[in-house]
Amino acid sequence: MAPRGFWGRVFGWLMQLLNASAYRWALMRLLEGTPERVLELGFGTGALAERCLGAGKTHFYAGVDPSPLMLQVARERLGKQTAEIDLRESTDADLPWESGSFDAVLAVHSFQFWQDPDATLRRIHALLKPGGTFVLVLRMHGRKPPAWLPNPYSHMGDERAGGRRALARAGFIITHDKRISTASYGLSARKA
Ligand SMILES: C[S@@+](CC[C@H](N)C(=O)[O-])C[C@H]1O[C@@H](n2cnc3c(N)ncnc32)[C@H](O)[C@@H]1O
Repeated sequence: MAPRGFWGRVFGWLMQLLNASAYRWALMRLLEGTPERVLELGFGTGALAERCLGAGKTHFYAGVDPSPLMLQVARERLGKQTAEIDLRESTDADLPWESGSFDAVLAVHSFQFWQDPDATLRRIHALLKPGGTFVLVLRMHGRKPPAWLPNPYSHMGDERAGGRRALARAGFIITHDKRISTASYGLSARKA
């Protein structure tokens, strides 16, 4: 849930290898718009942030992740970027930017760790500009998801259906709904 120590570094390295197809899909969704200001929840090693910034459209990249190790790794990785970077040690429950601050919000494989996903989705909706994009990549857990996952949609095994309903309730219109790989499922939505 919050990688740390030697094994946290190994996990982070493996994660970015295994998640390459999810990053590609998320980046494609992002570049359908004009992602000048982007927020990422659970940025991990900063691999997706680096790809996003490399596309050259983003001049402000913000993010939250509760792992001090991931914050350190991502800050080192993005240290030479010319865009303004605002990465914080925090969680989905604390997104302290002004409403209407972002063109796009990304969350790859962190949804299962959100305690109150409905509240976070409402907050993301408020943080987006009108017409802004939210790209959510779910980590597939199979038929028996771990019971300790804090997100009720994840541990009850209803993540995709629950996620779709929660997005609609929060005021999003789903634009893409696709299995990316055996490990990843993509939902992309627009602020209505
Ligand atoms: C499976 S990793 C995915 C990292 C990155 N998105 C990627 O795909 O490479 C999950 C990340 O979510 C972070 N995380 C855990 N709980 C979180 C929360 N409540 N809010 C935001 N991020 C969280 C972890 O520290 C970790 O970096």
